Amino acid sequence: MKSYPNIRHLGSDFKKLNNMNKISWQSPSNIALVKYWGKHGVQLPSNPSLSFTLNNCHTTTELQWEAGDGNIDLLFDGQRKERFTARARDYISSIASIFPFLKEYNLHIDSTNNFPHSAGIASSASAMSSLALCLCSMEYEVTGKTLTEEEFYQKASNIARLGSGSAARSVYGGYVSWGKSDKIPGSSDEYATPLPMEINESFKDIRDTILIVDQGIKVVSSRAGHKLMDRHPYAQQRFARANKNFNDLTKALQEGDDPNFIRIVEQEALGLHALMMSSTPGYILLKANTLNIIHRIRAFRDLSCTTLCFTLDAGPNVHLLYHGSDSAEVEEFITEELLLYCSDKYRIDDHIGNGPEKV
Ligand code: DP6
Repeated sequence: MKSYPNIRHLGSDFKKLNNMNKISWQSPSNIALVKYWGKHGVQLPSNPSLSFTLNNCHTTTELQWEAGDGNIDLLFDGQRKERFTARARDYISSIASIFPFLKEYNLHIDSTNNFPHSAGIASSASAMSSLALCLCSMEYEVTGKTLTEEEFYQKASNIARLGSGSAARSVYGGYVSWGKSDKIPGSSDEYATPLPMEINESFKDIRDTILIVDQGIKVVSSRAGHKLMDRHPYAQQRFARANKNFNDLTKALQEGDDPNFIRIVEQEALGLHALMMSSTPGYILLKANTLNIIHRIRAFRDLSCTTLCFTLDAGPNVHLLYHGSDSAEVEEFITEELLLYCSDKYRIDDHIGNGPEKV
């Protein structure tokens, strides 16, 4: 059985307040290196994706329950937000057949992000994974249903996926895959799997500095973005390429192969935006300063001894990826040449992390 050293307890350390019980999980966001873009059925991915889980950017969700009739209320960053409450209600009713006990309780969900919305970091990954972990812990507390550690996380990943695809990967730390792949034994479209192969030492200390180019809200939601792949003229080529990139990247991570890592990761980032630009309607989420930063990174890489590269999410902000051993040189480059392209010189420093923790 796999062990998840960062997880202290799966159950039984929940708090009981009179007739109310509560449990809390802190779960990080993740950054995809091979992107999930396009889905079918009930939140099933059209290709396998691969990410690493961040360490610093996380959501803490506290779930309280008491005997009741299925009422749900939600606080997000300490405030009642109708849109989020409606989304949580829809989500919880969509998983009612998996957790039939939920209808006998009233739920109070209190979710807090430690990074701003405007940062363009996938907050649905951390939010939905922390909620899914709380629901799985609650199941154990109220029904006594015991699962092995491996089963618990697999279930949490499956439940998280139903809320947001990328959240399936945030249930684990390190490098994580999601989606059926011949290269990953036991992999599935329904839940994520931590990469089972030994990762080269150099990639175990990977950094992600997020340069915030624009703090505006997304012009297209990822849900709508995925939908555009349903009738995208390049969809089949994209899914074939993603499979190849997935296989090649797992190899590069094992071998410590920087040139192939850079080639694949940057191709995935630009490919994601190329798909958005060539869909109908087409979206341009890149800003002029996104491109300025990308040009600077490539020029810097040619001149320096570092292997600095970039990835992008479905937005204009740039994720700088580099080895911990290059951090002094990269830091100088960021402060001297890149911060001027950022909104209010705004950046977030993060790195690969161990995954969620019960708090
Ligand atoms: C570009 O997981 O946010 O970040 O399943 O509709 O909630 P939904 O989509 P979401 O999509 C993430 C897309 C991406 C790439 C990735 O994280 O793999």
